[in-house]
Amino acid sequence: MYRTVTCGALREADAGQPATLAGWVHSRRDHGSLIFLDIRDRYGITQVVIDVAKQPEAHALAAQVRGEYVVQVQGVVVQRAPEAVNPELPTGTIELHAQALTILNAARTPPLYIAKEGNEDEALRLKYRYLDLRRERMQRNLILRHQVVKFIRDYLDQEGFIEVETPILFKSTPEGARDYLVPSRVHPGMFYALPQSPQQLKQLLMVAGMDRYFQIARCFRDEDLRADRQPEFTQLDMELSFVEQEDVLQLIERLFTALVQAVAPHKQVVTPFPRLTYAQALRDYGSDKPDLRYDLTLVDLSDLLAETEFQVFRGAIAYGGQVKALRVPGCGGYSRKQLDELVELAKAGGAKGLAWAAMPDAPDAAIRSSFSKFLREDELQAILSRTQAQAGDLLLVVADTATMVAAVLDKLRREFAQRLNLADPNVVQFAWITDFPLLEWNPDERRWDAVHHPFTAPHDDDLPKLKDAPAAVRAKAYDLVMNGYEAGGGSIRIHRREVQQQLFDLLGIAPDHAQEQFGHMLEAFEYGAPPHGGVAFGIDRIVMILADESSIREVMAFPKTQQAADLMTGAPSPVEERQLRELFLSLRTRPS
Ligand code: AMO
Ligand code: AMP
Repeated sequence: MYRTVTCGALREADAGQPATLAGWVHSRRDHGSLIFLDIRDRYGITQVVIDVAKQPEAHALAAQVRGEYVVQVQGVVVQRAPEAVNPELPTGTIELHAQALTILNAARTPPLYIAKEGNEDEALRLKYRYLDLRRERMQRNLILRHQVVKFIRDYLDQEGFIEVETPILFKSTPEGARDYLVPSRVHPGMFYALPQSPQQLKQLLMVAGMDRYFQIARCFRDEDLRADRQPEFTQLDMELSFVEQEDVLQLIERLFTALVQAVAPHKQVVTPFPRLTYAQALRDYGSDKPDLRYDLTLVDLSDLLAETEFQVFRGAIAYGGQVKALRVPGCGGYSRKQLDELVELAKAGGAKGLAWAAMPDAPDAAIRSSFSKFLREDELQAILSRTQAQAGDLLLVVADTATMVAAVLDKLRREFAQRLNLADPNVVQFAWITDFPLLEWNPDERRWDAVHHPFTAPHDDDLPKLKDAPAAVRAKAYDLVMNGYEAGGGSIRIHRREVQQQLFDLLGIAPDHAQEQFGHMLEAFEYGAPPHGGVAFGIDRIVMILADESSIREVMAFPKTQQAADLMTGAPSPVEERQLRELFLSLRTRPS
């Protein structure tokens, strides 16, 4: 037996008992006749004492061990003297007095500290990920991830869902990102695509009568990577038959409330989840994934300023744009330099400029403003009254297209929430965003694109508009927002072939292309497709938020860099000419 207990198990009640531990040397303190070793495993840390007088052999070995050596210690549990108790460790009231020590494996000096968090480059952590993962923080994150997935599996099992695996070697799916392709050896010149999601397959499982499906599913998307985006990531993917949007929303609300209570009980979930339409979210927060832990709502000034002499404002409105403001409490004392930096921040987000007005604290002091000289006094007063500006406030105003105004003010809203510490890290604030538009115009391709995906059902009330006013058609689509991140999205699906065909037509998917790409779906819909709908969630993002991390890389065992590279193995890497030949592939230019 390598061990009788783990390094996290021993307590006062075990005093006097023999025990054998195995683990890594977390630290070593040499006090001459006594050597202290902290031995670590996934479960904790136990202090081992080796006394030269009692165990000269073990003491001599202990003098050789270094950090991260793998050792086995056999000894007796002893209660520590009160002044020696370590309240930081669950095992801190005891220590193991060694009788025998075995070095199971030596270790080179690791390139990163395991015992303490360094601020080393992330590249180093990723290259030596197996060492990085030894750290307490990463172990905690992976354990939390396991608990999240296990909870979801158990919960959905109880709710009558069955987990079905779907293929990784598949056909291109229309989730909107670029596909990862896999060449076929058996069919020269043909390719599989890795699934961007199991979307079509889960719908086909509904046609197959599975009724309630879920999967912890790996998805692949070749897109620009960010802190919350990886080329491969994990979804909780779900689909249900004979449901309306309301059924899905209620089930998910119960699931996620119970999940947070179970795996992160120190966090408070706000229930019921607020619901906003897409239009409301954009109007009030400039974003379809607003963080609702704080207010800072946007205020529309367009109607007040349509006739102003100030060309920047009037021009934007005249061209169909908007003028909107963000009122930031307590920042009216910003210096000119700080304000200039804000202007640069807005410009970096695409704004042409940022107008500001800083309200003094003293009632009779003058307002400092970048734009008051361009406005009439009554226009300025109207702005102050509409925004409910108070002493000490800072007003930030953007004039541009509605899309740009939203993007810039969303960015500033998030920036100030951070500066002012407005978001309580111990609150999990979910929100549903509903009534997304079904379609958006793609000016480059001169056609309509599906906002969610081409299988999303239009609102029944809006069906007549499909022909003449496609932009006004709302979708039966919903997103779940979690602390300002898009945690998931889904929709009620089209289940009738003729409606699906109508949509393909609108999306400019020619009949022969639709047949080639989605023929199996169209055909399946002719064999009795039940009304159905579903949703998928980013497991990585959910765990990231519950773990108080700011990148999903911190909750994935072996993530890739922003350049989609694996620094540990060096993937992607060149392949041998022989492999290319087998696949009937040749490289256009061989990269050096
Ligand atoms: P969608 O494309 O919105 O919907 O994806 C669902 C959720 O998956 C997560 N996600 C990602 N996480 C990490 N890295 C990525 N690159 C990434 N891309 C997406 C997000 C997102 O909300 N089939 C539909 C769902 C449905 O209609 O049922 C789908 O995939 O949290
Ligand atoms: P200008 O006429 O360019 O000197 O701008 C006058 C003021 O309006 C300055 O404070 C600018 O920062 C501000 N401004 C310029 N463009 C915009 C815009 N698109 N939205 C808001 N303010 C702007």
